This record gives sequence, C-alpha cells and structure tokens, in this order.
Amino acid sequence: MSPVLFPLPGNERMAAALADGLKGMGGRIDVRRFPDGDSYVRIDTTVSDRTVILVCTLDRPDEKFLQLSLVAATARDLGAAQVGLVCPYLPYMRQDARFRPGEAISSRYFAHLLEVSFDWLVTVDPHLHRIHSLNQLFAIPAAAVHAAPYLADWIRNNVENPLLIGPDSESEQWVGSVAARAQAAYTILEKVRRGDRDVEMSMPNIGDAAGRTPVLVDDIISTGRTMVAAIRHLQALGWSSAPVCVGVHAIFADDAYGALRKAGAHDIITTNTILHPSNRIDLHESIVNSVRSMIA
Ligand code: R5P
Repeated sequence: MSPVLFPLPGNERMAAALADGLKGMGGRIDVRRFPDGDSYVRIDTTVSDRTVILVCTLDRPDEKFLQLSLVAATARDLGAAQVGLVCPYLPYMRQDARFRPGEAISSRYFAHLLEVSFDWLVTVDPHLHRIHSLNQLFAIPAAAVHAAPYLADWIRNNVENPLLIGPDSESEQWVGSVAARAQAAYTILEKVRRGDRDVEMSMPNIGDAAGRTPVLVDDIISTGRTMVAAIRHLQALGWSSAPVCVGVHAIFADDAYGALRKAGAHDIITTNTILHPSNRIDLHESIVNSVRSMIA
C-alpha cells in the first residue's frame, strides 16, 4: 500500500512534493493550539496498517517538537504499520560535546527523543562535527541527504568564474566536494567564534582571486555572523566584487537576513530545507530517493 504523508504546519509544500514523488497519499490532519497553549491533534485519514510519513522541518524546534511527537503517537495509536520522519533540518546537532562542565550533550539527547516517536528518519546535511555518521547517534535507521551536488550545480549554472570560500576548517571537505563538482577553485577561511554573535575571520591563503566572484558556502546560516564576518574580511582585503552567499539551511535568526544584505551580499541562495524567500535550490527529489530506501 502507498505511504500516507502528513505535513506538520508550514511543511505543506514539501509534503505535497514528496507525496507526488513517492506516489503516496496526502493525509488530512488538524493540528492547532488551545487558548491555554496545549496542542490539539486529530488525524483524519485512515492510517491503520499503513506506512505513515510525517514531514516537519525543525528550525525553532522547541516550538514544534511536542506537536510532532503528539502526531507520531496518535498515528501509532491508530495502528500505523510504521511512522517515519522527514525532517529536512535536524536541530541540536551542533551541541555534540560537553564544552564546559555541566553542559547538556543535546545532539545525543535529542536523538533519543526522536527514537521514541519514529521508526526511521531522513534529513539533509545534519551538522555532524565530532560525530561522523547519524548511525553513531541514532538507534533507528537514519539517512542524510547531501545537498553538495545541488549547490555545485546551482553555482556552475549561475555564477561566472566563482571562487568558493568555506568559513572554517571543518567545512573544507564539504566545500572541496562542492568545488570539485562545480569545477571551481576554493579556499578556506580561519574562523574564531567568541560568542553566539561574535565571529572573526582571517584568510591564510587567498590564492589567485583576480577576476573571480566570491561564493561563500556554508551548511547553516543562523545568526549570519559567520557570513557577515567573511564578507567584511573580503572587503578589508580589497575585493571589489560582492559575494554570493550560498547556504543549505536558511535559519536566519532574528535580523540575520537583513544583516547579510546590509553587509554587502550580492545574492543569498538557500535550499528548501526551511521555507524562506531565499530558497532557490530544490532538494525534494533527493529526499524522495532516500525515503524510498527507508520504506522499501
Ligand atoms: C558552524 O560550524 C556552521 O558550519 C556554520 O558556520 C554556523 O552554524 C553558522 O552560524 P551563524 O550564521 O550563526 O554564524
């Protein structure tokens, strides 16, 4: 039987594209808040003995997670054969160690919370640093779709003579693979983060940049401070061409998008893992392929 897909609020477009690609069925669901802030959930499509797929990107996760787990529990209670999660942006992955005594290792705890509700998970480029694979974190099957080929194709088709710039040493492997497929040169900056919104950059090896369009590439644009610091650094080095900023996950906390524009970004391009006006790179096809392998 074909899977039935339910979007959590705000995920309707992605869920419809996935239902189309998977030849699945769009399910009806009512999720809303009572005046006291509790959530109301009703699944209005038969799920008994069916593969249920919930679609919910988890930027601003604390606002969304409880509703998501209530929907998953309802689907299980109504007899779903399996409940999977497509979560294009997987949060809490950056806190993957105890940097100071007493801190939560949030990536690990958040993975446990998801395991309770879901049989499998598909996400896009989770921010894994000290952990190398989702399977080290999750006891359920978990797959990561890679946006790099799509970023590379966008850059190759839209930017003349690009020089790709990664913000920090940990981005090197990833930016290197985007550059290889885009047939472009790349360089890596050195980043020092002193606080959530305090980032400084240096560029040890600028290479031959003459006549090139700088393309800043990062997995997450959150406060935007990483990209803003990189733009300022390029300006201080006397680069005249305004950079194109390419990110996978368009979090854009608070004023981040405006700050990036104000700093001098020529264009800001993201994928559709989080709905935002900057979305220009569509990843749904690749997500469909990954989900297929989960439900096969
Ligand atoms: C960090 O290691 C990530 O790759 C990004 O560079 C970071 O998350 C960007 O954050 P922000 O936009 O807040 O500077």
